[in-house]
Amino acid sequence: MRYSTENMDTVKLSQRLAEADQSHLLQFWDQLSPEEQAELVSELENMNFQEINTFFKRAMKTSSQIKQEKVDSRMEPVPREVLGSVTRDREFLKEWEQKGLHCMAQNKVAVLLLAGGQGTRLGVTYPKGMYDVGLPSHKTLFQIQAERIIRLEQLAQQQYGTKCCIPWYIMTSGRTMESTKRFFSKNKYFGLREENVIFFQQGMLPAMDFNGKIILEDKGKLSMAPDGNGGLYRALGVYKIVEDMERRGIEYVHIYCVDNILVKVADPAFIGFCVNKGADCGAKVVEKTNPTEAVGVVCKVDGDYQVVEYSEITLATAEKRSADGRLMFNAGNVANHFFRLSFLKDVVNTHEPQLQHHVARKKIPYVNSKGEPVTPDKPNGIKMEKFVFDIFQFAKRFVVYEVLREDEFSPLKNADSQDGKDNPTTARHSLMSLHHRWILNAGGHFIDENGTRVPAIPRHGPAGALTPDGKQNLKDGTDLPMKCEISPLVSYGGEGLEKLVQDKEFHPALVIDESGIHEHVKNGL
Ligand code: UD1
Repeated sequence: MRYSTENMDTVKLSQRLAEADQSHLLQFWDQLSPEEQAELVSELENMNFQEINTFFKRAMKTSSQIKQEKVDSRMEPVPREVLGSVTRDREFLKEWEQKGLHCMAQNKVAVLLLAGGQGTRLGVTYPKGMYDVGLPSHKTLFQIQAERIIRLEQLAQQQYGTKCCIPWYIMTSGRTMESTKRFFSKNKYFGLREENVIFFQQGMLPAMDFNGKIILEDKGKLSMAPDGNGGLYRALGVYKIVEDMERRGIEYVHIYCVDNILVKVADPAFIGFCVNKGADCGAKVVEKTNPTEAVGVVCKVDGDYQVVEYSEITLATAEKRSADGRLMFNAGNVANHFFRLSFLKDVVNTHEPQLQHHVARKKIPYVNSKGEPVTPDKPNGIKMEKFVFDIFQFAKRFVVYEVLREDEFSPLKNADSQDGKDNPTTARHSLMSLHHRWILNAGGHFIDENGTRVPAIPRHGPAGALTPDGKQNLKDGTDLPMKCEISPLVSYGGEGLEKLVQDKEFHPALVIDESGIHEHVKNGL
């Protein structure tokens, strides 16, 4: 059917737009093809402009308040009594891990992956979970995570003798849904059962200029983006995910981000710690050691738990130290959260509408009044996003779990560059370095091409120099990690390796997978 401005539907639509002060969205109507007109109408018909305008006003108000008053004076660090630590509470680790595995054996644990981001900084057009960082196996982030789930199910089964399932809920967005689903289907769900991998989609919001006008990215196309990882809570309601979890008997949910190659999906120790403490919500953190590191910190503001972004505090506060010499606000958020299902349900049903959107000022490509595309060189508008951690304030019992960065946190945010951080190279190196340590801890050794044992702690020379075993030092003076990869299907956290590697010597590259031990793998490392 051919749409025209006289058509009843479009008349109604233009009235709605006029009432919402968004009439400019139809300014190029007559220049659009019938197909483009139809697409624009279907996009606009599904939008609630009054709600979007309200989001805009509220978000701008909150954002200007934040700018005026820094939160510094209202902040308190996480108190010791709610903190569990893998280094300071070593004697409890086994007990927490057992508790977590027991919950899994009883089918009470689900994992939920936030994978609706656009991966703009990484610069790929496909979902980040499909990224191959160049490991010997060339496994993608999705595959690594799937195999960790499978291994945990096996561990829980071995311990408690019952077959169990950890369902995997995956939040995508309009931009990532189809390609994510296709990728999983093509790869046969990486060995998981299809009915236990549940996809759902978060909402999208338009970008707006500073006057609250929705931005046109093209003559017939709005500039749209996912509504932030806190869009999770609304999407859970729309797709009735909590009900699905209840049907399956789930009681605890581990929510995490797609980009951390070291992520301990459904970490049993973290889950066991949170359950034993009676928590309804928990956050995993790593110690922030550098005051200017760009991570949010978990802390209390006016008595409520919150993540405060580094941009919201002064340097003086970021540099404050406790009596033990550590940074006072050192609980660096790694976007890894625990939820009791009853609390998650309350968030979805009661608290979600109270959450405010955060404002990100961005350079948003647009078409000018002549219909010409413009790429601005300074911010010309905002994107509105809710954040997953904004619900901490509603938890009755909130706990924090501190882990080691080198064991658990190496996010993939940026494309590779000379002196880059959080990129494919650093992600690959972090994983191989962790697996190298697992081999050494299990009693294995590495030898170089002359048959000489490589020292466990390599001697560092200056950046760029060669080490005695012929490896080149990186810019920071550390050397390249041993080329070594252990499949998650063989070991989730370093367990079970003694029988395979104790008192044995290996040449890098070493790959240990379900089919055995492979040395000298030659491929693009
Ligand atoms: C996030 C955390 C930050 C933490 C850092 C650690 C939030 C809001 N911020 O920051 O406190 O220090 O990770 O790596 O959690 N996503 C969606 N939908 C969206 C936007 C993002 O699902 O609309 C997902 C992404 O796919 C990704 C995750 O959320 O898995 C994190 O998104 P990203 O934008 O990379 O967050 P950061 O700013 O890096």
